Amino acid sequence: MKRHVIITIDGPAGSGKSSVAKMVAQRLGFAYLDSGAIYRAVALYLLQKGIPPDDEAQIEESLKGMNIHIKDLQRIYVNGNDVTMAIRSPQVDEVVSSYAALPVVRRRLFSLQRDLRDDRDLIAEGRDMGTVVFPDADLKIFLKADARTRAIRRWKELMERGVDISFDDVYYQIVQRDEKDANRKLSPLMPAEDAIILDTSELTLEEVVDKVTELIKDRVLQV
Ligand code: DC
Repeated sequence: MKRHVIITIDGPAGSGKSSVAKMVAQRLGFAYLDSGAIYRAVALYLLQKGIPPDDEAQIEESLKGMNIHIKDLQRIYVNGNDVTMAIRSPQVDEVVSSYAALPVVRRRLFSLQRDLRDDRDLIAEGRDMGTVVFPDADLKIFLKADARTRAIRRWKELMERGVDISFDDVYYQIVQRDEKDANRKLSPLMPAEDAIILDTSELTLEEVVDKVTELIKDRVLQV
């Protein structure tokens, strides 16, 4: 059986990794996994059930009744309901890192992500793709950008979607989320030892997409 190619792109909120991963996958005909979306789906589910992040026992029990389905790696369903849009709300932004830090949540999502590698060549994007989920990836990229640039990107995205939120609130949330994601015990946000680090602060989306595509062509596909 042909072994499929795996590329990982990790980085903090607003580093551009989702847009970059999606566009590079499109160019190269790879599938694309947005692992943050799965953590968001869990956060939304627990938020709606009113279970706080510090009640691990109830979370474990409740997750047994949660069935996540990713359709064509594009749309995300929880127990048959399409939550693709709902998981992008500022309410989910605010709580997702707290749920994502829990071992019970990470354990549950590990195999779900890992199993996707058997289907097609894949670009997996998140926080721990290169360090924990796909440590054997063919190429690992870590995108970074200063917090202000990332907050501007996220704020613009929310404004375009008609979400009413101030820039200061978005900036504060980004800094808080970075802090939680980078300092948690389990799978903290950090570059894998063998990752290529790209600072995107001064680059346009197109420039980052070109750079990442070139890296994959040179180092993995050798075309
Ligand atoms: O990429 P994002 O902003 O949609 O991710 C949402 C949250 O999910 C993020 O704050 C941390 C968590 N996450 C994670 O812990 N591990 C991943 N591989 C992806 C996301």
